[in-house]
Amino acid sequence: MKHARVAVSLAVSLAALLCVGGLAVAMGMGGQPPANQPAGEKPAGAPPRGPGGPGGPAGREGGREGGSLESAMKGMNRAYKQLENSIGKPEAKDDNLKSIGDFQRSLIMAKGMSPKMEGADKTKMAETLTAFRTLQIKLLKTTIELEEQVMAGKTAEATATLAKIHAIEEEGHKEFDSQPSKK
Ligand code: HEM
Repeated sequence: MKHARVAVSLAVSLAALLCVGGLAVAMGMGGQPPANQPAGEKPAGAPPRGPGGPGGPAGREGGREGGSLESAMKGMNRAYKQLENSIGKPEAKDDNLKSIGDFQRSLIMAKGMSPKMEGADKTKMAETLTAFRTLQIKLLKTTIELEEQVMAGKTAEATATLAKIHAIEEEGHKEFDSQPSKK
């Protein structure tokens, strides 16, 4: 009888230990970093906080995370030139949609960067960056309009929208490019 009571209390203690252990493992999985990850550091594989990234500074330096504004602009230019040639051709619908996608990808890169602002004070820099991004967003919205029109086969409307895109380009270069003669 005494043996039976000891066996029961041992079983209860074991069950309690298993419960606490399970809880500790569960907490470790969601709440604590792995032992080999120093406190406060990002886990491997987390997205970098680069230019234009979440919480990252705006940047334009060539070769850093995602390239330069210049290379993003060149990407937009390639896609734009193709669109100029074929936007009026209904049979080029698939090619046009591909070029619009290429343009948008480069534009998204450009939007996260910043134009040259040497000599500007902090307030002026912030204002310029806001104005730059506002215009890039307007351009992006216009490319979405263009995409919808091309998809719907509205060739004449798409041609007019590409002209709007050209006007935004001119506005952007007048406002933000220190060497507009390159285009
Ligand atoms: C259809 C739209 C656009 C096209 C095709 C385009 C194309 C270009 C090209 C070819 C360059 C010269 C890159 C080089 O060789 O150095 C350039 C530079 C530049 N673009 Fe655009 N652009 C467009 C729209 C815009 C807009 C909307 C803005 C501003 C909001 C902008 C701002 C700039 C700036 C600041 C530079 C100078 C980059 C540098 O510092 O090298 N562009 N763009």
